Amino acid sequence: MLSMAVSNYAGKLHTFSKLLVSPYKIGFVQPHSYLSDDQTKEIKSILESGSQKNLISIYENKMARSIGSGYGLSFAAGRMAFYVFLRSMGIGPGDEVILPGFTCSVMPNAILKVGAKPVFSDIDVNTFGSSADSIRENITPRTKAVVAQHSFGIPCKIEEIADLCSEHGLLLIEDSAISFGSTLKGTKVGNWGDAAIFSTDHSKPMNTIIGGFLYTRDYSVYLKARSIYDQMPELDNPHQKKIYEQFLFERVHYVPDKYPRAVLIGYMHDIAKRSGISHADSQSAFLENDYTKPDVSTITNVPSYPYPARMPGFLAKIGLLELKRWKYEKVRRKKILRFYIEKMGQMGLGKYVPKVYSNSAFDIIPLRFAFDHPDAHLIKMEMSKYIDVSWTWFCQPVICCPKGPEDLGYVSGSCQVGEKACDSIVNWPCSIPEGWETKIEEIFVKIMTGFK
Ligand SMILES: Cc1ncc(COP(=O)(O)O)c(C=O)c1O
Repeated sequence: MLSMAVSNYAGKLHTFSKLLVSPYKIGFVQPHSYLSDDQTKEIKSILESGSQKNLISIYENKMARSIGSGYGLSFAAGRMAFYVFLRSMGIGPGDEVILPGFTCSVMPNAILKVGAKPVFSDIDVNTFGSSADSIRENITPRTKAVVAQHSFGIPCKIEEIADLCSEHGLLLIEDSAISFGSTLKGTKVGNWGDAAIFSTDHSKPMNTIIGGFLYTRDYSVYLKARSIYDQMPELDNPHQKKIYEQFLFERVHYVPDKYPRAVLIGYMHDIAKRSGISHADSQSAFLENDYTKPDVSTITNVPSYPYPARMPGFLAKIGLLELKRWKYEKVRRKKILRFYIEKMGQMGLGKYVPKVYSNSAFDIIPLRFAFDHPDAHLIKMEMSKYIDVSWTWFCQPVICCPKGPEDLGYVSGSCQVGEKACDSIVNWPCSIPEGWETKIEEIFVKIMTGFK
């Protein structure tokens, strides 16, 4: 026990000393450094005034229009959009919901919260998204809904999955938490199923610090979800203030030349809080209480925030600014992706580039450039000198679960393609802070040259 603690501290010290001498690091979040001081003041005044109703509906309309011709509702998180969809469709005890074993714990957690059973299906080796074949194998008479996940901006084989769902009379919900704006055969992700969820938490394609969105082309689905939505509470004021402070902090400190110090500040706050030196309120800006199996029979692990909850109005304002910038941002991301792919070809690494990237049916707005490589661990070690790789999705079949994927119903060995990908996946960021494109390209060439 003592030796574990010592090695833990030695590890932290090592990370500390490395961070102290790092001139820069590219984080996993694209900060709002593009916002002017006036825009930031306006966001603050929305938080303080509390008059948010109009902004929310404007955001919901604009966000829905950016996806398609359907209807949208905003939430404090993507998982809450999913939970509300499940509830509004009457999914509950005795029902099964199929989702990929390449996801975040909050997704099976939402299924368990409505009393249904999560059943994990495998991913497709080429898209890192849901596999139609594996979904088919997991359908039982109890299956009510299927989650089809689009990973890293790559549409999954959604056409086949949609056909399968209509053949079996199953509800289809697209998990677009990490894919926004990409199209397959000209149809955007989000428009293939009964509904789709999006996440706008700070690591996602669009960043509102925390946030989620439910989109549907079906007005009756919208109305059912709306009736739950109308009863939903807000996050309390102190929590909203925390989120605002996090937004301010990231805006200034998550730029690469300040990022190493920002991580150090985070570590120090954490240590001070744990050791009782700091009396800082322990509530996080983030929604971190949905990572384990919910106990639906008691209230012992009810989260410290309302669930489901509305998206705060000042975050809707940030969302509107992100949407305004999207046209420009998506071009930047595609350009970075093109660079990575071209260089892979020139360096003799073309065989590692998934074929989906050159398939003209797919228009990919990338969040990450993802591929499998036998030396993934070594590549990630090299990347970690310049890039925060702690958020390299998905290093285990269900991420963010302190008690392990089995706690949320995952059966070890059940999704073999996904489990293999967890070991061999490398993903390079495509959402790069402004002005750092050349640097990331230099790093990419420097590192990948060593892995031919
Ligand atoms: C694939 C996937 N789906 C859903 C979610 C849930 O999003 P949120 O954190 O906004 O609830 C995540 C979060 O990381 C995710 O990675």
